[in-house]
Amino acid sequence: MNIITVKNYDMMSDLAALLIAARVLEKPNSILGFATGSTPNGTYQNLIKMYNNGLVDFSQVKTFNLDEYCGLPQEHEQSYNYYMNENLFKHINIKAENIKIPNGMADDFDTESMEYETAIKNAGGVDLQLLGVGLNGHIGFNEPDNIFHNITREVELTQSTIDANSRFFQDKSEVPKTAISMGIGTIMSAKEIVLLAGEDKNEVVQKLQDNVVSPEFPVSILHYHPKCTIITVNKN
Ligand code: GLP
Repeated sequence: MNIITVKNYDMMSDLAALLIAARVLEKPNSILGFATGSTPNGTYQNLIKMYNNGLVDFSQVKTFNLDEYCGLPQEHEQSYNYYMNENLFKHINIKAENIKIPNGMADDFDTESMEYETAIKNAGGVDLQLLGVGLNGHIGFNEPDNIFHNITREVELTQSTIDANSRFFQDKSEVPKTAISMGIGTIMSAKEIVLLAGEDKNEVVQKLQDNVVSPEFPVSILHYHPKCTIITVNKN
């Protein structure tokens, strides 16, 4: 695990976008895993700038998003589908058929999850997975638990995640209680991982450096990933 500490959010976003763009330049048909939340916003803005400047081309790129809330239609402003479209996809030349996000409105979440896993495998696996991290150490929506859950599935959100994410909703009662999330195994099978942890996640990064791997702190599994970069912000 390579931890890179930078001075501010913009530097973190610059570095992350550079890493992603470099992979796409090396392999134009890269499979990218994308994340939502406020942390990767700056990274997506930089990718859009690079695209507008003709530096990177997404026409052959395929993407798989980490997760989606259950019960929010795609056009709901807080759905991750909406987020990705507004913050990245509609501004670049990615093909609609190359974008995959779990369907939070599926009739059967087990089937949806199985099909998502299969789609990732059929595409050849994720080349680079971008991650954020929850205040409780969750990655995707893999919440602290007594086991690591391997595959994509419907998950129950913990109260702390519902509380943290309620800032985006008008009322806490509107925050979905469940989501579909890639599993820990799905995330770990990416060939490369880049995790962004802004200043608000300094305690999470500190705990990660204790080197204790436990499903109670899901992000700790990344210690076992062969090519994982953590970009963290610390002004001091
Ligand atoms: C959500 C997402 C995660 C994300 C986390 C942190 O719960 N499911 O993928 O990493 O929020 O979000 P933020 O970057 O807004 O702190």
